[in-house]
Amino acid sequence: MESTAGIVTQMRQLIQLIAQHNHAYYVMDQPSISDNEYDSLFHQLKALEEQYPDLVQNDTPTRRVGGQALSKFMSVRHAVPMLSLGNVFNKEDLFAFARRVEERLPGQQVKYEVELKLDGLAISLWYENGELVRGVTRGDGETGEDITQNVKTIRNLPKYLYSDQAAIPKLLEVRGEVLIPKTGFLKLNAENEAKGEKIFANPRNAAAGSLRQLDPGIAAARPLAFYAYGIAQCEPEHHLNSMTESLHWLRDLGFEIAERQFLCDSIEEVQRRYEKIMEERADLGVEIDGMVVKVDSLKQQKQLGFLSREPRWATAYKFPAIAALTTVENIDWQVGRTGILTPVARLNPVFVGGVTVSNVTLHNIGEIHRLDVRIGDTVSVYRTGDVIPKVEKVWPEFRPDTAEVINLPETCPVCASPVVMPEGEALARCSGELYCAAQRIESIRHFVSRKAMDIEGLGDRWVESLLHLELLKDVSDIYHLHQHRNTLLGIEKMGEKSVQNLINAIEQSKKTTLARFIYALGIRGVGETTARMLANSFQTLEALQQADVDSLKKVPDVGDITAEWIYDFFRAEHNLEVIDRLLAAGIHWDAPIASTRQPLNGESWVLTGTLEHLTREQATQMLQALGARVSGSVSAKTKCVVAGEKAGSKLEKAQKLNIQTLNEKQFIELMETYGQVI
Ligand code: IVH
Repeated sequence: MESTAGIVTQMRQLIQLIAQHNHAYYVMDQPSISDNEYDSLFHQLKALEEQYPDLVQNDTPTRRVGGQALSKFMSVRHAVPMLSLGNVFNKEDLFAFARRVEERLPGQQVKYEVELKLDGLAISLWYENGELVRGVTRGDGETGEDITQNVKTIRNLPKYLYSDQAAIPKLLEVRGEVLIPKTGFLKLNAENEAKGEKIFANPRNAAAGSLRQLDPGIAAARPLAFYAYGIAQCEPEHHLNSMTESLHWLRDLGFEIAERQFLCDSIEEVQRRYEKIMEERADLGVEIDGMVVKVDSLKQQKQLGFLSREPRWATAYKFPAIAALTTVENIDWQVGRTGILTPVARLNPVFVGGVTVSNVTLHNIGEIHRLDVRIGDTVSVYRTGDVIPKVEKVWPEFRPDTAEVINLPETCPVCASPVVMPEGEALARCSGELYCAAQRIESIRHFVSRKAMDIEGLGDRWVESLLHLELLKDVSDIYHLHQHRNTLLGIEKMGEKSVQNLINAIEQSKKTTLARFIYALGIRGVGETTARMLANSFQTLEALQQADVDSLKKVPDVGDITAEWIYDFFRAEHNLEVIDRLLAAGIHWDAPIASTRQPLNGESWVLTGTLEHLTREQATQMLQALGARVSGSVSAKTKCVVAGEKAGSKLEKAQKLNIQTLNEKQFIELMETYGQVI
């Protein structure tokens, strides 16, 4: 029998080999061995683990990476703040930066270390005795989010530090950038497109979206990579002298460093490097938006220190935006989750600033008119490092005779409902609302949310799976899910208990309030407060459904446009069908407070002075909803006077007559106790 140490060594070697090949395959998209060879390594490791289960290593790739999905990320305060960098955009500014540095270091020779400015997200990694224990986003620089589970899925990032040259520090905090290299990004988008999933605008968004996933399984499936560029803390002290040495040391410990890095003897040399890198930008494996120029000596860095939130010893040297010419092949109208139609120009693919751009959003029909862009037109497309591509201008001189004017479609490309664009509005919408598949996800998500029907456990992932299985065509199908228990049990990770919990939560949600139900319908312009006002004013769903625009306008909080939206919502046949199905499924609420039980029934109230937080109209409607009458003058019959700022004679009279008075704050508090909210 082999020794324990021997087995562990074998396991560790296999883990390391698999990690290297994973990186080559997933991140760089350059497989270093055949699939068979890879499988064989994987099986060898698995076989060893089956034989010696006690010795299974924590970071083994044979287990699903990551673990349980989190419900939210925890906030973590950075021990050493994560600062930002000043920017320079041209040679003059760069030289001015060098002058400021060199003036503060009289008589000293200054070398500059130049790095790629990686266009990803800064994170901080904590290693205790060589083990990765925590990964935190930059956040606002002072406090970030704990994304340890996600960073552990990054394949090129060492989970354990190892060096045959240096001792492993007790504590090491490493800073660097997480991003998705270009090839991995193209592959990810191609795969997503094939699956009909989200296409990311650029690698930065894809990386950011991946790190923000609460389920580490999602981050694990994305080709994320980490590149180290600095040390925030090290115990015991590292005794390194320069940035160059620091990066070499980090590499020795197992970190990946960006593919280029230079040591320059003068600022002129930095400028030459910049020009060269700008030319080579497209050949790099990663997306960059400039370079970072750092004073190489750590001693000099200390001497220079910081100016407010930025180090004096470093600056970003940004690339200018790059434009390229291409043609508009077609226009697709995408229907967003809220029904908004967005025109997306399909371009003849063009390489701009390091990525191939084949789609660009034109935002809305107004932008199409402003640019006067037509199908077939030649356009210049530009992007800077951190913005998505944009159409800069149209070149009418290249317009072919066949160019086609772009019109707003009359019907929704998803559900064929009429497209509407009210006068004075910039955005066109599909009128399909609860009926339109594109709007389903959002309407369901809203419907189950805490302030609406409050169905705990029906989170985004379930909604997506259920939509995928076509179990949810509209929100009313939620109340029939119990008939599909077996299908639910078949969904990954859905155990008997979670299915039962979900079914119970759905059942419990059937008893609700009218206000919640109105809010849950997701009528445009009807937030939680408006829903409550509507419930108070109309008391029954039937009355609300039948209300005309004028009576809707009388409700506090409901303006002219919202009144129209509410009216239209209840005129659309498909919305009424969904409501009928919901009620038939058993959604119910207590009858509204009978008028005799209205707490201020018959009382006479007076409003005077200027109210700061609500309008006269709103205060009046609240009082009326509670049964009070609002009068213009104070008399012995007055129950109470609400006095805002600069209240005059009415307040004096009330005081004389010993009538109760409330200031605005007290009034709002009282209204809240009756369930009235501004
Ligand atoms: S050093 C004290 N080096 O740039 C600041 N930052 O504006 C130390 N970045 O959020 C930062 N590549 O995400 C440094 N090679 C590099 C970098 C880099 C990209 C980003 C970083 C930070 C931002 C600073």
